[in-house]
Formats: sequence, structure tokens, C-alpha cells
Amino acid sequence: MKEKEEVDDAQVNEEVENGRIIFRKYIDRLPQVSDFEYDDESTIKLKVAPGSGALLVKNLYLSCESYMRGRMQDFRGSHNPPFTPGSPIEGYGVFRVVDSDNPEFKPGDVAVGVTRWEEYSLLENTGQLRKIEREDIPLSYHLGLLGMAGFTAYAGYHQVCSPKKGDYFLVSAASGPVGQLVGQLAKLQGCYVVGSTSSNKKVDLLKKKLGFDEAFNYNEEPDLEAALKRYFPEGIDVYFDSVGGSMLDAALSNMRVHGRIAACGMVSQNSMSRSAGIYNLMGLVLKRVRVHGFLVTDHLHLFPKFLEDIITLYKEGKIAYIEDVRHGLESAPF
Ligand SMILES: NC(=O)c1ccc[n+]([C@@H]2O[C@H](COP(=O)([O-])OP(=O)(O)OC[C@H]3O[C@@H](n4cnc5c(N)ncnc54)[C@H](OP(=O)(O)O)[C@@H]3O)[C@@H](O)[C@H]2O)c1
Repeated sequence: MKEKEEVDDAQVNEEVENGRIIFRKYIDRLPQVSDFEYDDESTIKLKVAPGSGALLVKNLYLSCESYMRGRMQDFRGSHNPPFTPGSPIEGYGVFRVVDSDNPEFKPGDVAVGVTRWEEYSLLENTGQLRKIEREDIPLSYHLGLLGMAGFTAYAGYHQVCSPKKGDYFLVSAASGPVGQLVGQLAKLQGCYVVGSTSSNKKVDLLKKKLGFDEAFNYNEEPDLEAALKRYFPEGIDVYFDSVGGSMLDAALSNMRVHGRIAACGMVSQNSMSRSAGIYNLMGLVLKRVRVHGFLVTDHLHLFPKFLEDIITLYKEGKIAYIEDVRHGLESAPF
């Protein structure tokens, strides 16, 4: 979401319009447009109460990520609490501080952290916010390449995959921010990298812009086991799995001895109330494969090193990043 206008001093004391995207009700299927509503009647005062420690921010960019689907159902066992029906969607954003009662932030500072899908937000919980000191990298990248997704790729790749030069490496959801970075890190290490993705356009991007050795459109592959055999005639050493389901099943029967599977996410199961069955587990035994599930939050101590390493690689032109950006809050889910 782009900044529409600068906020002047006179405005700070006034109520201004505050468009918001409201989450309407819990679902147990893929989200639809009718699950959201654009509220253009809300207003907000651009001032924080003295003593509150809060920030009043102008949201500049908001991210839309697959974990948010999990928050759209009333499942309190999740590590992310469910959204509140009737309230704006919560998520990561990059924002500019308009007013502050927090000594760590002053008006004009730009920061990243959890905010809400609205033009302006009053942020009372400021403990996890991070100031963005350098603006020589596109601000939106702090939500993807340099945000939770990029960090998931970095932590999962280095802490879970045990990659070695020459490994045969499969990445699913390869066009997402996690898959893009995992594939490029593996390429930099000298692995042979194949990405699975959902369209021929994305196949082209993976090969031509991101340097994957190969990529394929799983929607055009009726037999995923055969497709993987074609791309990995000698088998797969590492599978970075973001989708679960039938791709995981096909990978299980194509792993090499002592292969590794990093279980990062199960996005193909998002629309299902019951997960799809997995049939090829015997491959784990015969090939002595290690499957390792992980949560990025287990590796937070690596975050500063992640930022340093990825910013350096990006500035040296060794990694690229492709975003899908919609302009204007009102167009976000619609
Ligand atoms: N473990 C952790 O701590 C952690 C943290 C953050 C994210 N994650 C997980 O990491 C994974 C990737 O996240 P991301 O942010 O890069 O992706 P994302 O932007 O949320 O997008 C998901 C991608 O998944 C693919 N996809 C969507 N529906 C699918 C389906 N039905 N079957 C197969 N693929 C489908 C699409 O890629 P293609 O078009 O290329 O197929 C899509 O771009 C997700 O599973 C997410 O939940 C895990």
C-alpha cells in the first residue's frame, strides 16, 4: 500500500477517515472475497494519549501471507491466535510513525512489525517493532525478502537442510518469498535446484530471473512421481517442503539415501478441513531420510546475521527478489 499523502501538523489533532479491511467470519475453506469487507466509515485521531507508550502510524505496505489463512478459523490451538471477526485483519506491515509516546520512536521514523489492514493504526504493543534505519532497499522488501518469509528461508536452509555442494535440491511453492530465497541460497552453494510452481509464467521467472536450473508447472503434471523422476533421475538429496500433500508424497518416493526433508509448511492443505493422506512413508525407512519440521521462531537469535547476510548478497547482485504488489488498501483482498 503506497503512502497517499504526508500528514501535516494541523491534521494530527483532527479525526481523519481511516479505511479498514474487516475480517467478517471464520471459514473452513479457501478464503473468498465475501469473507472481507472494506469499511470506509471509520475515523481515527492522529494523536496518542500521553502515558500510553503507544504509536500512531501510517501504514505503507502490508503483507499477505499463507499463515493468515490459519488465523481465519476458530482454532485456538494454533501458535497464531485466530483473527477477531468484525475487526481489521492483523499482519506484518511497514509504517511511518505519525505520533509517538514511546521514547524509542519519533514521528517520521519508519518501522516494521505487526499492524492492521487499515490506513492508520494505533499500536499499543510496540515491543516487537523494528526501526528501519536504511532506506536504500525497497521498503516493501522488509515484509518478504528481509522479513519473516526471508528469515524462514534462511533459517530453514541453514539450520535444517544440511546442504552440500552438488546436492540435488527440490523447492516447492518456489515462487513464494520463502521458495525464491531457498532456491537461490542452494544455487549459491552449488546445488542443482528445481522449483515446482503453479504456472508457466512462474516457471519462466524461476529459471530466467532467479537462476533455478529447472522448474515445472505442477498443474501440467498429472503424475508428480514421474515428473520428479524426470527432473531428478538420480533422486533428491534435499526437499524444502512448503506444500505437503501430493508433492510431499511424490518426493518421498524419489529421495536419495540419507536425504533430508525440511518441513516448512503445508499450504496445499489450507483449504481442507482434513489433511490429504501420505502413502509413501516406507521411503523414509529404506532411504534413511530425515524429516525435520521447524518454526522460524525457534531461530530468532539468527535474525541479525540473516539481515546482514541477505542485504550483502542482494547489494552484490547475487540474489534477486520478485514481488506481487497491489496498490491501495481498498483493493487488497478484492
Ligand atoms: N515454518 C515456519 O516457521 C514458516 C514461516 C513462514 C512461512 N512458512 C510456510 O512457508 C510456506 C511458503 O510461504 P511463502 O510466504 O513463501 O508463500 P506465500 O506467499 O504464502 O504463497 C504460498 C505459495 O504457495 C503456493 N501454493 C498456494 N496454494 C497452493 C496449493 N494448493 N498447492 C501447492 N502450492 C500452493 C504458491 O506458489 P506456487 O505458485 O509457486 O506454487 C503460492 O505462491 C508456506 O507453507 C508457509 O506457511 C513457514
